[in-house]
Amino acid sequence: MTSRFILDPQIATALTPPANWYTDPAMLELEKQKVFSSTWQYAASLDLLKLAGNYAAVDVNGIPIVLTRGQDGTLRAFHNVCRHRAGVVARGCGNRKSLQCQYHGWVYGLDGKLRTAPEFDGVENFNKDDFGLIPIRVDTWGLFVFVNLDNSAPPLLEVLGDIPKETSDLNFDELRKVERRDYIINSNWKIYIDNYLEGYHIPIAHPGLFKEVDYDKYRVDTFRYYSSQYAPIRPIRSEDSAGRIFTEIKGDEQAHYYWLFPNFMLNTYPGNVQINIIVPLSHDKTLTIFEWYFADPGTPAAWNNLQDGIAFSDNVQKEDIQICEDVQRNMQSGVYYQGRYSVKRENGVHHFHSLINEFLEK
Ligand code: FES
Ligand SMILES: [Fe+2]
Repeated sequence: MTSRFILDPQIATALTPPANWYTDPAMLELEKQKVFSSTWQYAASLDLLKLAGNYAAVDVNGIPIVLTRGQDGTLRAFHNVCRHRAGVVARGCGNRKSLQCQYHGWVYGLDGKLRTAPEFDGVENFNKDDFGLIPIRVDTWGLFVFVNLDNSAPPLLEVLGDIPKETSDLNFDELRKVERRDYIINSNWKIYIDNYLEGYHIPIAHPGLFKEVDYDKYRVDTFRYYSSQYAPIRPIRSEDSAGRIFTEIKGDEQAHYYWLFPNFMLNTYPGNVQINIIVPLSHDKTLTIFEWYFADPGTPAAWNNLQDGIAFSDNVQKEDIQICEDVQRNMQSGVYYQGRYSVKRENGVHHFHSLINEFLEK
């Protein structure tokens, strides 16, 4: 059975997971039950939910969820499933005092309580208190709203570890979302994450990025539920400044890439932040959502930097997409079974695979 692969905890002797980890539709079903349903999943930008009365209907890995900010200021999340006959109680986003099911009009408070069920006189043993929306755990960090379907999972802040402290110089109040791009990739979601979690492929697969980072100092550090990649920006040399994106580098500037198990990434660069959310659509199809946040995008110079930064990431992403799609086809070729890890460069990938195994065993 797919999930029975035992990963050697020592990377130096470990074999990488078998190809069927990436090619078997049953593996994704297991991951949905055991990984995606018990980890913090990105649900929305907090800016949709700042004001009392705000609501947002979102899809989190195929699960319809509605987020609300009550009149009492409390942020809540519910399954977007009416307790009558499973209609949706909210579409899109906006500001309202209550939510009305789009099917027969049951009305729920922003606190999830059922308020009115029209034409229900004469229905016996029916107590409105028993028919509230089903709540889901919700929490926020920075600009981001997360939900967790597992009531016994550790709190978001615990899972984030030192990330909030290490990114405390980001002024979230000044950051604005300026662009979102969706990319659909014909590969398993883990192939994309594997690729993200190492810098080993940068010299060959990303020649443009290779010019920007100091590869010798590139480092991946792993923690309980996340890892961080430290990528110092290489100082400008006179001969390459024309071909560089980050042209105004001060001494200690660096890119820091955080990955939160299993599928959320926060990439911090000088002057901007980007998040990636990796959503499995099927065992061999994955949606990756990129959102860019910039501080003070109002000046012409900052706007140019922003556009350069987006075009640069878009280019790197296209290089990664090709790699991931090649690897997926080759995983399906029948000639590949397992490989080995670079101890120096692929510790983040081994850490990810260990977490997947840990959650599948639960
Ligand atoms: S399904 Fe919601 S009111 Fe009928
Ligand atoms: Fe890459």
